[in-house]
Amino acid sequence: VADFDLFLKNRDGSYVLYRGANTTLTEAHKLTLLDNGVELLFISREDRNKYIRYLEIHLESILDGLIVHAEKSTIIYQAASQLMYDVFNDPTEPENLERVDSLVLTTLAQVMGGEDELVAMLDALAYDYSTYTHSVNVTILGLALGKQLGYSPDELHRLGTGLLLHDVGKSQLSQDLLFKPGKLTDEERDAIKQHPILGCDLLRNVDNVNYETLVVIMQHHERCDGSGYPHGLNSDDIHPFGKVSAIVDAFDTLTTKCVFQDAVDTYAAIRTMLSVTNTFCPETLREFILMLNLSENVRKRQPREDRSA
Ligand SMILES: [Fe+2]
Ligand SMILES: [Fe+2]
Repeated sequence: VADFDLFLKNRDGSYVLYRGANTTLTEAHKLTLLDNGVELLFISREDRNKYIRYLEIHLESILDGLIVHAEKSTIIYQAASQLMYDVFNDPTEPENLERVDSLVLTTLAQVMGGEDELVAMLDALAYDYSTYTHSVNVTILGLALGKQLGYSPDELHRLGTGLLLHDVGKSQLSQDLLFKPGKLTDEERDAIKQHPILGCDLLRNVDNVNYETLVVIMQHHERCDGSGYPHGLNSDDIHPFGKVSAIVDAFDTLTTKCVFQDAVDTYAAIRTMLSVTNTFCPETLREFILMLNLSENVRKRQPREDRSA
């Protein structure tokens, strides 16, 4: 039972209602459709969010019924991107945070499944079109890097939750500031640099938000040579999760088209990151490069419009 209408497409391209919202669609209905050569049903564009929420709620059983890794990855990616939209609109809503937790576990299961599953998940990053996908990209890249680093499932779970929420402080900044094209004033730049602190302030006193989540939010713009923000920490004072998040956040920003810059490819991004010696933790960056070697197609990106750092 879905809470949106399902349509059939006629030969002339018009649509006809097949089942209204909140009516049952059974296995028998499905077989009848297939017998009649119908392989696709359609939803109205306005119901897209309801459809993705439906996917998220039924994620486990839907994924169980799928064999193709790319299909699974696309569904996880869509559900996660929609979730981030909801989180940015209401970051402290406990239900949203529970959804974050369960989506991280689903993503983690896919990343840990095997090389094919991991590569499919990394390839899903290319289907990138919405404002909230940066958080999802960073999470997938970070989980893949954490796996490469040999982190335990529990560590990966905590790292992933932090990564999905790493930019949540931006929900407290105005869209005009975040999307302002051209040069920022010093005050505007300082305001944006507050987002790690704003994010921690938001979630610090919320139940079930663990320490490592806050560490990732606070430290993802710190740099090992002390040139980062908000605290200008040196390598020794940056948590390993902070080092991981700095690398995947910078990589996704470089390989993403935004209002400030065109996207560069994987190799150019890595070259740039290697050229700023000791800005990123060298050992962690080396493992990241090894991980990316898994999939030559990773990061053949589609353009997108938003700012993401
Ligand atoms: Fe950030
Ligand atoms: Fe970011």
